[in-house]
Amino acid sequence: MSTPLDRTIDSLARTGMTRFFLRMFDDAPDLLLKNLTVEAIGPDRTFKIGGKWLRNFGSDSFLGLDQHPTVMAAVERGVRDWGTHNGTSRAFSQVAPQQEAEAKVAAWLGTEDAVIYPSVTLANTGALPALATRHDVIVLDQYAHNSMEEGSRIAKARGVRTAKFAHNDPADLDRVLRGLRPFRHAIVAVDGVYSMSGQLPPLADFQRMAQNHDGFLYIDDAHGTGVLGAHGRGTVADALGSYENTLVVGSLSKAVSCLGGFIAGGRDAIEVVKLRSNSLIFGGPVPPPYLVAVCAALDVIMSSEYDGLRTSLDANVRRLVDGASQLGFSVLGGLVPIVSVLTGSEEATLRAGRFLFDAGYYVQSVVFPAVPHGAGVLRMQVNSNHPPEAIDGLVAALGKLMQAFPEHDQESLHRTLTRRDAIPA
Ligand SMILES: Cc1ncc(COP(=O)(O)O)c(C=O)c1O
Repeated sequence: MSTPLDRTIDSLARTGMTRFFLRMFDDAPDLLLKNLTVEAIGPDRTFKIGGKWLRNFGSDSFLGLDQHPTVMAAVERGVRDWGTHNGTSRAFSQVAPQQEAEAKVAAWLGTEDAVIYPSVTLANTGALPALATRHDVIVLDQYAHNSMEEGSRIAKARGVRTAKFAHNDPADLDRVLRGLRPFRHAIVAVDGVYSMSGQLPPLADFQRMAQNHDGFLYIDDAHGTGVLGAHGRGTVADALGSYENTLVVGSLSKAVSCLGGFIAGGRDAIEVVKLRSNSLIFGGPVPPPYLVAVCAALDVIMSSEYDGLRTSLDANVRRLVDGASQLGFSVLGGLVPIVSVLTGSEEATLRAGRFLFDAGYYVQSVVFPAVPHGAGVLRMQVNSNHPPEAIDGLVAALGKLMQAFPEHDQESLHRTLTRRDAIPA
């Protein structure tokens, strides 16, 4: 006899994308490159899956710091010095590497202070509800990252009013904030860079608008961390000239290649965020070996070595963007090291990913709901340790893909993807 749990799971399995994926698992398991097991990793961003060596274009360790001897040695040192665990809850004590890593993040960015969470998702779901009371409002760019939306949903459940404004549109932000009056303060939450479109938000205009409405900026710069701005400090300092009236969120799991997310800003603001973030109070911290590794990775990023890593990365990104564009693909992104080409329907996108996989290149097939229905993309993540010939090989494979699937109408796909209601990942 089935239990309520069985019946709940059964009804969920018959809903939306879960049904689509479960059916694909049954009907075309070879197309769905999900739940893959990487059996080994080799040099120059190669890895082995199913006994076959491939070039990995799915890593967001953009600077290759996951393979950097100094960073790897730091993890080992962290285990020797601290073991694998922090000892007590963060609410009561912290290990010295937590303080060192937070001080280093602040020194790197040029903020007064910073706090590290185990992920950006936990930072956003902890800090956004922490920063707003029922007298305040949270307004998000319509394409703001899902984790900020989740944070605003938690705040909403506690009585905070929330709303969205049109993507990158300061005039619409003004309209939305006027409509929400009266309120005490407004949190304006945006991404620092939209990885899929490669667009930067008009931060200075947003700042002006926020201040006109007693608001401040909350910027999730996870994709800019380590790969945009001087020494990878991200988009905010360049766009605004200072961190006044701003909280910056960044990732330690992407370009920094360790684990975690941070919030940086003024000392008082960080203190209050620490005291009010439930994800920090009731959740565990980043383990010490990874905090030691964060310090080592940031030392590399702040050193002269960074210029070489960034030069290789930027050259690789340009090589892929140029190569894919010359083939006639509609290329999205390319400001951060994520380059996407349009492929179309869910099935065409999964087939295209499989085609490249068989040719020896792992890329990610991204379909609804990360993109609109019928506007799937192949997402390629470029790293500084991809040899140029690996990029050329991927471009050649994309050329063969274009010949194998000539029916892709790039122009109409582009129109679908750039629709106002489309949802870039
Ligand atoms: C802008 C942005 N915010 C948050 C996240 C989630 O980060 P995490 O995996 O650390 O939770 C991502 C991940 O891709 C992101 O791009």
